[in-house]
Amino acid sequence: MLKAIIAPSMLSSDFANLASEAERMIECGADWLHMDIMDGHFVPNLTIGAPVIQSLRKHTPAYLDCHLMVTNPMDHVEPLAKAGASGFTFHIEVSKDNWQELVHMIKSKGMKPGVSLKPGTPVEEVFPLLESENPVEMVLVMTVEPGFDGQKFLPETLNKVCVLRKKYPSLDIEVDGGLGLSTIDAAASAGANCIVAGSSIFGSQNPAYVISLLSKIVTS
Ligand code: DX5
Ligand code: ZN
Repeated sequence: MLKAIIAPSMLSSDFANLASEAERMIECGADWLHMDIMDGHFVPNLTIGAPVIQSLRKHTPAYLDCHLMVTNPMDHVEPLAKAGASGFTFHIEVSKDNWQELVHMIKSKGMKPGVSLKPGTPVEEVFPLLESENPVEMVLVMTVEPGFDGQKFLPETLNKVCVLRKKYPSLDIEVDGGLGLSTIDAAASAGANCIVAGSSIFGSQNPAYVISLLSKIVTS
């Protein structure tokens, strides 16, 4: 049985109070904290980078699940490792030529390597990364176009989750974008076990309830 992991996306938190928002999420039962790193180039939005991860790390021992929506992920490996990142998930669309080197570097710096696909990217593109001698340890299937929180879930993206779960029964499969109480059933039945949720958790009056329900549905 795969472990259910609920990872609130801190993009939906109050960035001016990041440390207390992180603490609040952990108290509410979050397993990981999902950190969206955007460069204003790979996606049309600009968020945070290694300096903010470094500051947050001083306030929490939590697993920091970093999602790199950047054109040059390689440039961020060393700074993020030094800053205290736990997971490093890069996008395949910008890593077709250097994923082997990237995975090697991420692992050698003690982080968990993951690969992500945008909604339009075919799932076959990540097979070589899972079948390599030095494989990635998680696949993040984007269920919205990356860039912003609060977007509408794209159900057709779950076909990729089904294919991955069938082929790789013990793989950590993460879904990200538009997940909440109305979309979790579909994501969980497709086979996702790591759930990123931003607006549905931070927009709730009772985030602990949302987190526990998401977790329960993934586990059942
Ligand atoms: C989007 C980010 C997501 C986003 C999720 O590009 O990768 O992590 O913050 O937010 P919701 O759950 O509101 O779609
Ligand atoms: Zn994300």
